[in-house]
Amino acid sequence: MISRTSWHLPNKICRHVSPPLPTLQSAFHSMAIQRLPKSKEKQPRSPILLLTLLIAAIGILFLLSSLRPIYYGTGFSLFSSAKEMVVPKNRPRPYRASEKFLYWGDRIDCPGKHCDSCEGLGHQESSLRCALEEAMFLNRTFVMPSRMCINPIHNTKGILHQSENATSEERWAASSCGMDSLYDLDLMSNTIPVILDNSETWHEALSFSMKLGSRGIAHVAGASRSDLKEKSQYSNMLVINRTASPLSWFMECKDRNNRSAIMLPYSFLPSMASKKLRDSAEKIKELLGDYVAIHVRRGDKLKTRKDRHGVDRSLHPHLDRDTRPEFILCRISTWVPPGHMLFIASNERKPGFFSPLAIRYKLAYSSNYSSILDPVIENNYQLFMLERLIMMGAKTFIKTFKEDDTGLSLTDDPKKNTKTWQIPVYTEAGKGC
Ligand SMILES: *[C@@H]1O[C@H](CO)[C@@H](O)[C@H](O)[C@H]1NC(C)=O
Ligand SMILES: *[C@@H]1O[C@H](CO)[C@@H](O)[C@H](O)[C@H]1NC(C)=O
Ligand SMILES: *[C@@H]1O[C@H](CO)[C@@H](O)[C@H](O)[C@H]1NC(C)=O
Ligand SMILES: *[C@@H]1O[C@H](CO)[C@@H](O)[C@H](O)[C@H]1NC(C)=O
Ligand SMILES: *[C@@H]1O[C@H](CO)[C@@H](O)[C@H](O)[C@H]1NC(C)=O
Repeated sequence: MISRTSWHLPNKICRHVSPPLPTLQSAFHSMAIQRLPKSKEKQPRSPILLLTLLIAAIGILFLLSSLRPIYYGTGFSLFSSAKEMVVPKNRPRPYRASEKFLYWGDRIDCPGKHCDSCEGLGHQESSLRCALEEAMFLNRTFVMPSRMCINPIHNTKGILHQSENATSEERWAASSCGMDSLYDLDLMSNTIPVILDNSETWHEALSFSMKLGSRGIAHVAGASRSDLKEKSQYSNMLVINRTASPLSWFMECKDRNNRSAIMLPYSFLPSMASKKLRDSAEKIKELLGDYVAIHVRRGDKLKTRKDRHGVDRSLHPHLDRDTRPEFILCRISTWVPPGHMLFIASNERKPGFFSPLAIRYKLAYSSNYSSILDPVIENNYQLFMLERLIMMGAKTFIKTFKEDDTGLSLTDDPKKNTKTWQIPVYTEAGKGC
């Protein structure tokens, strides 16, 4: 374990120790070269020094103890993800006497056998939200996977203008990021208590569940959430280990024909972004001032396929046309006054694609703020979350697809998959602008 990985630990752990103390790294350093007595020449045995050394020693023990129980799940490489590695939340939060836990598995969306790929962030968030709602319904603490799989298509660090070239069939290369590099778990816990599955709290709960015997842990498959709540063989358990749908966790929430079961709004997880991401978004929002945001989905969504006559067909026949700058200019002219600041988030990769919009608007992309983003953003999921915060904070937000009757959108094509493949339309017919 003497690796780059372990050298990343000291700094981060020390953030949890009170600020005026030396970091573990500097404590190691000082002891190695005997520099401490020098800097305190007059009182080499001052109580402060002793206290410092004592605390450093405790810190080292703490560090060593934290090296053992990190669960990464299979297939994750410690070394390839060293940069993103996030120290587990080992702040010991002893669980409350009445606290009970709900566990759905150590990976979102692949609790079953077929776990060689994962979906984009939005898809995985639907699943996470479904699990969180169940935990709320059961009044249990949700045990979150400590890492989120990153689809390789979405994993080029940097600017959205370059991803999504590949198809969803592309294999998932072992790649993931720490859940707490995406979300603020403390903030989330104000609404629904969550812990990570590599936390001390979870390890303690699991070992206590062994001691509890028949009231310790229930391994459940195929039970409804009301069974889990009402039947005492489940409701009394310290831990419910639930086997969610092998396809996608969110299948557990589909077709439930019960509005009252929906407890968390779609905006919940987006607004739970980690503090680093929220702070950076705030800085950028401040620089943008008064702005309108547009989300322009092209990339994957432009996919066409040929019918048996060799004619291209698309699920969103007007999308390619309606997301081109000349059409955007026309569509948004009644919503956005000339000269306004327009923040553009898009997966279009062609450089300068949206430049024609500059004849009427001031344009900004996340790439304009690389000095703020570079120190913070490690993967495209984080970038996506940050852009989402900027879009949520806009005075006016224009989506790509029509999602409901009230929101503004670039195209009238619905977001919902209609499953009808139509011939793409490029003419201006009916557009009067
Ligand atoms: C929910 O669980 C907490 C402990 O985690 C307990 O204090 C509280 O009374 C429970 N609420 C309900 C409505 O059962
Ligand atoms: C992206 O797609 C283009 C056009 O289909 C192709 O020429 C290019 O090789 C692809 N790039 C990658 C990295 O797959
Ligand atoms: C939860 O249940 C699954 C399937 O029964 C099992 O493979 C897994 O080891 C269990 N996890 C825990 C933490 O008990
Ligand atoms: C709908 O959900 C509520 C609470 O979530 C539950 O009490 C009720 O029994 C459910 N109704 C049906 C028909 O499942
Ligand atoms: C953002 O960068 C583009 C060039 O990539 C430039 O045209 C534009 O003015 C910049 N916007 C802001 C707000 O700085």
